[in-house]
Amino acid sequence: MVNEIKPNVYSVGAVDWDRRLFDELIPLPDGTSYNSYLIKGSVKTALLDAVDPTKTDILLDNLASLGIKRLDYLVSHHAEQDHSGAIPDVLQAYPDAKVVTNTKCKTMLMELLHIAEDNFITIEDGQTISLGDKILQFVFIPWVHWPETLGTYLKEDKIFFPCDFFGSHLATSSLFVEDEPFVYECAKRYYAEIMMPFRAAIKNNLKKIESLKIEMIAPSHGPVYQRPEFIIDAYKDWAGEGIKVRQFNLTGVDIGELAIALVDAATVVIGSPTFLVGAHPSAAYAAMLTNALRPKTRFVSIIGSFSWTGKMVEQLTGLLGNMKVEVIEPVVFKGLPEDKDFVALDNLADKITAKHKEIGLI
Ligand SMILES: [Fe+2]
Ligand SMILES: [Fe+2]
Repeated sequence: MVNEIKPNVYSVGAVDWDRRLFDELIPLPDGTSYNSYLIKGSVKTALLDAVDPTKTDILLDNLASLGIKRLDYLVSHHAEQDHSGAIPDVLQAYPDAKVVTNTKCKTMLMELLHIAEDNFITIEDGQTISLGDKILQFVFIPWVHWPETLGTYLKEDKIFFPCDFFGSHLATSSLFVEDEPFVYECAKRYYAEIMMPFRAAIKNNLKKIESLKIEMIAPSHGPVYQRPEFIIDAYKDWAGEGIKVRQFNLTGVDIGELAIALVDAATVVIGSPTFLVGAHPSAAYAAMLTNALRPKTRFVSIIGSFSWTGKMVEQLTGLLGNMKVEVIEPVVFKGLPEDKDFVALDNLADKITAKHKEIGLI
């Protein structure tokens, strides 16, 4: 299936309607596609990525149907089989083509696919290659989801080709996203299964591409995004935990400020030392105030310390009796916190995140 996505920019990859497992592990209920793009400049022609080796014939047929006799560059964004497996066959069909990639990906392609070193041109982050009237700019986007991954920005058409980044496992005859809610679900599943472990890298890469003027995103799986903010905003949402934290020092708090924050607070965590045998009076006051205002808060927890004994947790929990909340297990430690106490605090943060996810807040 050949489609022109912009003048002289074609989608020439393959749809895999029947594939139901990726890496023999990840379910593909809607199949997938291996997108490959051909860019014809006034002087030179480049192919961005190949396809899974099981679909090599389709890629070569598509290039033939466009009358492509010569390829100057084969840009490899990612050494994984589903985009690079067909490179050796493409090089055989187009012996003038040079594989353009970074040094990391080159090493992988040499090791994984036994492509000879003299086939490569290596590029640096931000470097450009001219095709005449179109210029390819390479943007390294490591760890989405392999260390070598890069993308290409086509300045003249404002298209970003991010390879696996922003993709969706979806076999469809539609070139562009037509049903955003459906593609959203497919892209979210793909994010969850492939990208989620690399959240920190995703955040860095989202920041990195902010400087590019992007009008279209053409990923290596699934349909092309004509509304890039649709998928960029979704990634920002998925990669960021989305929990905003406000911290108040209860000994000098403006209770109006505290009340305003309570309007939107899904979780309230009260921190208190043990004063004599109970809570610090300021913490008790905040708990009483919260209890009286009855915000729509869903979860509460308590953190704090004690020296020998005390009923700080019981007292604060008792003061919150009006609130219909779930109490997430408090973290209370004796004296100076130890490593295990900091681990418990981290676990509490994770539990709060999980609870917010459970009720659909993030
Ligand atoms: Fe991949
Ligand atoms: Fe992929």
